[in-house]
Amino acid sequence: MLDGNARLNLATFVGTWMDEHADRLYAESFDKNMIDKDEYPRTAAIETNCWLMLADLWHAPSADGAIGTSTTGSSEACMLGGLAFKRNWQNARRAAGKSTDKPNLVMSSAVQVCWEKFCNYWDVEARYVPITDEHKVLDGYELEKYVDENTIGVVAILGVTYTGMYEPVQQIAAKLDEIQEKTGLDIPLHVDGASGAMIAPFIQPDLVWDFRLERVHSISTSGHKYGGVYPGVGWVVWREEKWLPEDLVFKVSYLGGEMPTFALNFSRPGAQIILQYYLFLRDGFEGYREIQQNNQDVALFLSSGIAKLPAFELWNDGSDIPVFAWQLKPGHTKNWNLYHLSDRLRMKGWLVPAYPMPDNLTDLTVQRIVVRNGLSMDLAAELLADI
Ligand SMILES: Cc1ncc(COP(=O)(O)O)c(C=O)c1O
Repeated sequence: MLDGNARLNLATFVGTWMDEHADRLYAESFDKNMIDKDEYPRTAAIETNCWLMLADLWHAPSADGAIGTSTTGSSEACMLGGLAFKRNWQNARRAAGKSTDKPNLVMSSAVQVCWEKFCNYWDVEARYVPITDEHKVLDGYELEKYVDENTIGVVAILGVTYTGMYEPVQQIAAKLDEIQEKTGLDIPLHVDGASGAMIAPFIQPDLVWDFRLERVHSISTSGHKYGGVYPGVGWVVWREEKWLPEDLVFKVSYLGGEMPTFALNFSRPGAQIILQYYLFLRDGFEGYREIQQNNQDVALFLSSGIAKLPAFELWNDGSDIPVFAWQLKPGHTKNWNLYHLSDRLRMKGWLVPAYPMPDNLTDLTVQRIVVRNGLSMDLAAELLADI
């Protein structure tokens, strides 16, 4: 009762509403344990159908040749992607008689905390490429200074958490091609598409960021963000089965059958996977396209309204994923800042966070709006009036 109102929660990327059919389906499948694949073979088949559809949506050369799994959100999906990178690198280094002591992962300083966790938990050196005013996202600039023979991979983010901007995956891949030509280092890419992998295919179909690029070995997304499901589901897909090292996959027999599993947990809810399938079937490609387009229209309406206010300067406008951030115009006032504005908006029920940017822009405070299904034009107009 004392929590914030989920619909006015413009801080989160995660779904807070599904239709009444989904609610009923959810209640009917509370008891499904995703690991019990032998006992619940239809749920297992639904899971497979979902990642096959994603492999196809993300242009895997052949969905049948790809491999994927559901996860507990993007965090686990990213960790599995990172673990596959690490093991592939170790196997190649061992085969060449080289040391495997010092693996590193290269990524923007604006990565989500799950990548910091991955590096910390699995003893991988995190190499952060700082963002700056000139290079607002990881774009390949000076990448050659960060990668070496111990680099297990590079992470590209499709929809940076801090701002919603896309990193130019194709440009980063081209830079890695150039590095390979000069040094022989063949460094793979993982696309962290927590938000963007469920936006770009629908409203920016010409943007090349996915398995159309051979260097992209794996892609992860959150089913519970722009996939539209309640909290608890993510997905990771490998372009080709060979990029998921076999020695990471466990085969267990004590549930009946012989079930392969690559996951950090054992038991976890199957209900959200069923909900994902429900949405894929109910909305279809065209339904998702309409929802995401509507989100983008609302984001552009809001960002253009905020850009017109003399106090603010946009950092980006929500034309990548429907998320944008702005700053207080330098020198505008000393009487208040974005934390005060966030606090004021909270009094009206709106949850709109303000926070510092990551390295090298930690002196800069921004405020961010995440537009999700349910933030209608009418509500957005109310929010603008309140701001
Ligand atoms: C780019 C990015 N990666 C990973 C995550 C972690 O996602 P999840 O909350 O699904 O674990 C987020 C969450 O905001 C994100 O924005």
